[in-house]
Amino acid sequence: MMNRKINAAVFPVAGLGSRFLPATKATPKEMLPIVDKPLIQYAVEEAVDAGIKKMIFVTGRNKRAIEDHFDTAYELEADLALKEKHELLDIAQSVAPKGVEFVYVRQSTALGLGHAIFCAKPALSNEPFAVLLADDLIRSSIGAVQQLIVAADETARPIIGLEKIQPHQTRAYGVISIRETMGKHVVASNLVEKPKPEDAPSNLGVVGRYILPYEIFDVIAKLPTGSGGEIQLTDALAVLAQRDGVIGVLLEGQRFDCGSKLGFAQANIEYGMEHPEIGVDLKAYLKALAI
Ligand code: G1P
Repeated sequence: MMNRKINAAVFPVAGLGSRFLPATKATPKEMLPIVDKPLIQYAVEEAVDAGIKKMIFVTGRNKRAIEDHFDTAYELEADLALKEKHELLDIAQSVAPKGVEFVYVRQSTALGLGHAIFCAKPALSNEPFAVLLADDLIRSSIGAVQQLIVAADETARPIIGLEKIQPHQTRAYGVISIRETMGKHVVASNLVEKPKPEDAPSNLGVVGRYILPYEIFDVIAKLPTGSGGEIQLTDALAVLAQRDGVIGVLLEGQRFDCGSKLGFAQANIEYGMEHPEIGVDLKAYLKALAI
């Protein structure tokens, strides 16, 4: 049963982030900023905006900065209060909104995304939950996870975010087989993780947003290792898709692949152009560059 309120979101953040070395040698990649806000905070804000109250982080070694980020910063706050820097104090304090719970579980060995989600099981109750991959930054009027929750309410099935991809991109995505389209939704009958272009069953790739049923843990527990020798969430979803169908939502909005240097740079430019403090000057600078 999927049509219940989504109360919890899981953020797998144990990855090494080696694509961003040396920046990620001692800093979690999820803490890299788009303008002035770390990637993970965008994802948490998206979940908060969708009414989610419990944030579960699946962390690993060298990820303490994430816990500190969503905690009280006494020294900083006292200093800002003393200097009457009220706006900055407000920014620092609103990182962890009131009434939102932050929970941390460890993934001590990097055995894949499916395994990371499995690590969150003790922090969840027997109800559907959201998963957000902070690398996928999605700018949209209705938050991506909210778009998925609407589909979960309508269909009572597991939900995945989708976007159209090019043949040369298939090796970076989970790709679905299309059973049928139902209005704005696509019913997936199967999923494959990172296929070669010639093996890709469609041009629809999975974006890092999911609404998963609690039953997925039984499926993950029985999975053999998949692509890259890892326990893949895509393989668990393939089992659910073959059983009852999984619903794909073509996400509205613009997605930035902030797991890649190009996507990360593009996001900084796009968000920078809209930023109240630097937007006007950045646009002027970019215009001058283009001449
Ligand atoms: C993960 C998933 C993949 C999905 C992608 C979206 O891959 O395994 O199915 O399409 O996120 O960003 P990763 O990018 O972690 O290799």
